[in-house]
Amino acid sequence: MNRIPSLRDYVEALREIGEVVEIDREVDWSLEMGAITRRCYEIGAPAPLFNNVKDAEPGFRAIGASVGASNRPGQRLSRIALSLGLEPRASAREIVDSIAAARTRESIKPMRVQTGPCKQNIRLGDDVDLLKLPLPLLHVGDGGRYLNTLGMIGVRTPDGQWTNWSVARVMVLDERHATGVIVPFQHIGKVYARWVELGQDMPFVIALGVEPLVLMAAGMPLPDEIDEVDYVGGYIGEPVEVVKAETNDLEVPATAEIVLEGTVSVRQTAPEGPMGDYGGYMYPHHPIDFPVYTVNAMTFRDDPIYPFTCAGEPPEEDHTIAGVGAAGEACHMLRDAGIPVTTVWLPFEAADGWMAVMVPPDWGEYEPDPRALCRKIAEIVLATKVGQPVKTFIVCEDDIDPSNLSELVWAIDGRNDRGENGQVVIGQVPGWPMTPYIFPHPEDVPMGWMTTRIVQNCLGPAGTHRPERTAFKHNYPAELREQVLRNWEADGFPSDLESAAAVAVTR
Ligand SMILES: Cc1cc2nc3c(=O)[nH]c(=O)nc-3n(C[C@H](O)[C@H](O)[C@H](O)COP(=O)(O)O)c2cc1C
Repeated sequence: MNRIPSLRDYVEALREIGEVVEIDREVDWSLEMGAITRRCYEIGAPAPLFNNVKDAEPGFRAIGASVGASNRPGQRLSRIALSLGLEPRASAREIVDSIAAARTRESIKPMRVQTGPCKQNIRLGDDVDLLKLPLPLLHVGDGGRYLNTLGMIGVRTPDGQWTNWSVARVMVLDERHATGVIVPFQHIGKVYARWVELGQDMPFVIALGVEPLVLMAAGMPLPDEIDEVDYVGGYIGEPVEVVKAETNDLEVPATAEIVLEGTVSVRQTAPEGPMGDYGGYMYPHHPIDFPVYTVNAMTFRDDPIYPFTCAGEPPEEDHTIAGVGAAGEACHMLRDAGIPVTTVWLPFEAADGWMAVMVPPDWGEYEPDPRALCRKIAEIVLATKVGQPVKTFIVCEDDIDPSNLSELVWAIDGRNDRGENGQVVIGQVPGWPMTPYIFPHPEDVPMGWMTTRIVQNCLGPAGTHRPERTAFKHNYPAELREQVLRNWEADGFPSDLESAAAVAVTR
């Protein structure tokens, strides 16, 4: 693998493949950074690196859409692939395999080192001014500027046994305070509950701008009690180098761009949000009171880069990081349960609401009843938080590339028997907060509610054969396909012309 050890090394890697654009003119934190970034996601443009943000301390830069999807032919998943140490043209299946395979490897504890680049500048107490960071007001209607949308929050249980690194939104309140979403079933919520029991404020670190693999792990639904940093160590085959925070015992990756340290109150709350989030809507249940973060120290690299997501309609990092991480974890869990699974994918377009599970053609040897297989797959995933955002499962044979929406939609229509055979309905399972419903009920609980799930059974009866496919890659002899491709440009076709489907499949 080709590990990229810091956000700034990652920006250089993006530059090499044309996936970043630097903007030197002054850009307004009030909506302009958000609007530019939103458009980048929506048209698959390179990530915008803002070198000059209005009112920010000189030298502080900001990057949006750093793990957005690209619209360059063959590079749709390049930012995700690079983040995972893969080559930029890695396919969705290679990406998911890489995440799942690391779950079967021995995890490796981090290594504490004396110091690191994140300690180049140290500010304590009242010398901290969060409002000097390039924090964007992302959407019209947001309740405030966002301090954290793509940083890693680190917390630890009071007994020191479990250190959780995750991504969750945090809204700034003033120079040293913020308020952030703490969902009870998320690991940050579980760790927070133990501090509440103790009656003591919870120490935290927020590392803004970490090495891209750490960010991927922080957004991934690993099981309870597993430290994300150990998973990353197992993934790369060596310990992650971490440094101790200045004011508490937590550690952060040594190469982090900006580190905030402090405590989350177990008593004091403040209204958080609303913020246009990953489902693409402004949520009517917000603002909600959430715990107050007090920042006691800030350390940072020279010329630090502040990363952010402008959440909303897909694809953005809630889909390209959290959705891809969920696919990897589901793939691992299903394989671990003995189910023959080729790959899993959450199509970005459904905002984490669809999970496509691909099985090999001989799936009937494992479970001859396709409906029973569909139910089993969904029940395994839904028994954990991995399944919480998923509303529709699609189970299909693996000639379909689930990251190619054209193929997937085609298969859902042509291989699904409709009615009783075609759909398995699983009733009343806890749903994810901010699930994108168009018409939320006033009594919905904003921290999640019970919903019905559907499995689209796109498998035929076991042992039957599908008719042969007539697509270019399936129907024509290999030599003829090669000949067509050899002559392509000479025949007058543009070399970079790829159909929407080809852009999606990446290879
Ligand atoms: C860009 C981005 C923003 C996210 N925002 C939130 C959030 O505000 N609240 C939340 O509970 N999860 C959020 N998530 C999802 C969590 O990071 C994800 O569910 C992760 O698995 C949580 O970590 P945990 O499994 O250790 O609990 C976000 C993920 C990403 C990638």
